[in-house]
Amino acid sequence: MHILLTGAGGQLGHAIQCIFSNHEIIAYDRQQLDITDLDAVRAAVATQAPDLALNAAAYNAVDQAERDPEAAYRANALGPRNLALVTAARGIPLLHISTNYVFDGLSRRPYHEFDPPHPQSVYGQSKLAGEEAVRALNPKHYIVRTSWVYHTHGKNFIQTMRALSQQPEVRVVSDQFGSPTYAPHLATALAQLVTTEAFGTYHMAGRGGTSRFDLIRTLYTLLGVRSQVKPVPSTAMPRLAQCPSYAVLTTLQEPSIHLPPWQDGLAQFVQSAL
Ligand SMILES: NC(=O)c1ccc[n+]([C@@H]2O[C@H](COP(=O)([O-])OP(=O)(O)OC[C@H]3O[C@@H](n4cnc5c(N)ncnc54)[C@H](OP(=O)(O)O)[C@@H]3O)[C@@H](O)[C@H]2O)c1
Repeated sequence: MHILLTGAGGQLGHAIQCIFSNHEIIAYDRQQLDITDLDAVRAAVATQAPDLALNAAAYNAVDQAERDPEAAYRANALGPRNLALVTAARGIPLLHISTNYVFDGLSRRPYHEFDPPHPQSVYGQSKLAGEEAVRALNPKHYIVRTSWVYHTHGKNFIQTMRALSQQPEVRVVSDQFGSPTYAPHLATALAQLVTTEAFGTYHMAGRGGTSRFDLIRTLYTLLGVRSQVKPVPSTAMPRLAQCPSYAVLTTLQEPSIHLPPWQDGLAQFVQSAL
């Protein structure tokens, strides 16, 4: 398959370029293609005539989005809308990546694809607007929601905590739960999904759930570091955006494509990081 990838410079974009070895990837980072520029999107799709477009681009600065909603909506809603419009006009399927932030995080059980979205932050609202545009404009869509993505390439919570691992003590929030997702595992699942033509909305995240506190305790055990991990409530680490306290995702969708357990992703991350 000939695939046009946007957001190629990000964590997931990098993983896709490594993992999609059975496909030909035409990778565009932000400098090469800004998805908010409709004419540029049109030109890229016309030149490449791909079999599929895969959008891994996003404005992911969750707190900053509260200060600059327009920037979040441009990248997360207008950008996917441009891609959906242009690909639909040519009958090209579009795979778009979304997030657990479309949910309010008040659930007591893992979110599945048929749960109603109820975003509580500008980031979540802008990502939901992007999903809605893709659904409305291109019937041949795959929308894949994921959570807590990390990779050896790029900035993420795991990399931040790894950098702090030489300190005698670190404080980590213990009342936020999610499904940590190793980007290469997500890319492997996406490579499987794009061959199905089973269009729709999917949840794909590291299997199982954990708190940020247990995640970092497990990371430090795997790294063999002795730093004390101290559990604290989210109220001790206030943020500008309201982060969902519960971000565990599961899937009811067919075909059911499962990622490996989150512990396997973390172990592979540590292996490739050391
Ligand atoms: N990271 C997570 O924890 C997480 C969790 C749930 C869902 N997701 C979703 O997963 C997907 C991949 O995320 P990621 O972790 O790989 O994010 P990432 O590392 O931040 O990568 C996103 C990429 O998109 C680029 N970008 C931003 N605005 C753009 C635009 N207008 N046109 C083209 N490219 C643009 C960024 O470029 P610059 O760096 O130059 O701005 C960056 O290279 C996103 O849809 C995200 O919402 C991520």
